Amino acid sequence: MVGFIDTLTKTNVSLDLGSTLSGICVLPQTSQTPETVRHDDENGKSQLKNKTCVLYNSFLQVDSIGYEASKKYFAMTDDVKVNYYFLTGMKQALFIDPDEDKEMVVNGISFSVVKVLADYLKLFSASALTKYKLDPHSVRWVSTVPANWEREHIQVIKKVFFEAGLVEEEDPGEETLMFLLEPEAAAVYILEECKSQLQMKDGERYLVVDAGGGTVDVTAVSVLNGKLKCSRYSTAINAGSTKLDRLLLEYLKTKLGDLYSALSSIDIQNITNQWESQKITMFNYEGYCPLKVTIPSLKGHSMYKLDSIVVSKKELETEVFGSVFAEIEDFVNSILDKDIYNYLIFVGGFSQSKLLMKRMEVFQELAKGKIVVPSFGSESVVKGAAYLGRNPDKIACRRSKHAYGIESERAFKFGKDDEKRLKRIEGDSAEPFVCTGVFSSMININQEITDQFYVDKQFVKNTDASIIEIKIYRAVKKVNFVDEMGCVFQADLKVDVSSMSIGDIFRVRLSLSAANALRVDVIPTDATKQVTTTVTFMTHMAVNHFE
Ligand SMILES: Nc1ncnc2c1ncn2[C@@H]1O[C@H](COP(=O)(O)OP(=O)(O)OP(=O)(O)O)[C@@H](O)[C@H]1O
Ligand SMILES: [Mg+2]
Repeated sequence: MVGFIDTLTKTNVSLDLGSTLSGICVLPQTSQTPETVRHDDENGKSQLKNKTCVLYNSFLQVDSIGYEASKKYFAMTDDVKVNYYFLTGMKQALFIDPDEDKEMVVNGISFSVVKVLADYLKLFSASALTKYKLDPHSVRWVSTVPANWEREHIQVIKKVFFEAGLVEEEDPGEETLMFLLEPEAAAVYILEECKSQLQMKDGERYLVVDAGGGTVDVTAVSVLNGKLKCSRYSTAINAGSTKLDRLLLEYLKTKLGDLYSALSSIDIQNITNQWESQKITMFNYEGYCPLKVTIPSLKGHSMYKLDSIVVSKKELETEVFGSVFAEIEDFVNSILDKDIYNYLIFVGGFSQSKLLMKRMEVFQELAKGKIVVPSFGSESVVKGAAYLGRNPDKIACRRSKHAYGIESERAFKFGKDDEKRLKRIEGDSAEPFVCTGVFSSMININQEITDQFYVDKQFVKNTDASIIEIKIYRAVKKVNFVDEMGCVFQADLKVDVSSMSIGDIFRVRLSLSAANALRVDVIPTDATKQVTTTVTFMTHMAVNHFE
């Protein structure tokens, strides 16, 4: 599996583009240990991650990114602030709508999400490239994505890397830009850095929960000869810590009514900023503390005497945040329900919350083992990605989240199949009536896929066309036809069969590529007859022409 990607001769630079914080880690080709690049926060304290935010000036040029940007912006007086644009929440915006033309509006100005992310990545990655004197085009980028992202999201992130000038092609191959799932990377970090501490043994089961800003990602793994076997496919819910931020704003909106509508976007940003700093301390306790936010523009308002608003412990618990904790509890419970785990391992910023971990104690019994929160959990994803990028076969087995198949035809079942699918084959065919648009599954949902796995489908050249088009689909549930709900077009495989004669056979093979991708090969039975494949787009899948 590792063979076709040269993982060893390039420096791997892994990037964990987070909803609120991002990490970058370098694994030089001469080293075995990745190093996370550190960043100074607003108070000059060295951190393992940097804030995911960009500040633009009035000419819409990038002023700064990360902690530097937020320090600068939040120190500005309101009359200066109006000339600046502070952008956050790009990753969430992309999750909701994975469209490369997606825009975000700040202070009445539209920003392209791809452009903002590219501006961010360009400066953020410079911190690592400069430190290690690396040329962006000679490194291999390893980018992590949440477990609930699809091929469409990855396509947009590829565009971001291209726009940032980090890769030379719009659709680079895995040897240049590899994508990994965040929880799988976190699981590999646990294997690499906590193995001896946890005394991990073969056959033991671990549930790795990455509770971050945007998502809570989960992957269930066990150790097998020093490698990881993902026993259930990784999955995620959008109940990260920023959901608390959104719910708080919604609550204030209801509580303040018309007064809220009168607040400026700068007021709202001030509330958000105050909340972010209080949130960390609030969640250092196992119970709620009241929240107080100051909104200077409220003072003197006829309906409101004070310049601050207080939300009580009870309100926070019952009306604001309770649902998020319950959602996470239900989610973890639904997974623990199906298996027994020796360890429940929490990583990600949100797992620093004592309040959340108190809720998770209910699983102590169910997990039949320990709940672990590693002290450097915030770098787990980015560091695990560096290890996994170097050795993709660290994951010996994973389960497919989707079914993958091709559009195909089969004998028509009269009385059962819809007549609009009926196609009559001219001439002397043994099967004159065929049913079109069939989803011919090659990989099933939840199927175990190892590095040895492959599946073939045989094709016969039965026309004199020089190109045969094969459409690849994925399905999120069991489907019979490619136009059914839950079936998504994935890629168009154009096979050049001009050197083949009618009746010649070739096979289409699906296998696991180096990382979290499927690979498609086209294999002629007669090796002397060359077959070339053109793919209009492939993102989550790596495609290779088989000689
Ligand atoms: N003690 C705490 N209580 C609650 N939330 C916290 C605490 N400490 C950090 N956070 C939150 O954790 C988030 C950052 O965590 P992390 O770096 O894992 O997220 P991320 O990688 O940006 O998000 P994602 O992986 O979902 O894209 C922030 O939203 C921050 O407010
Ligand atoms: Mg994260």
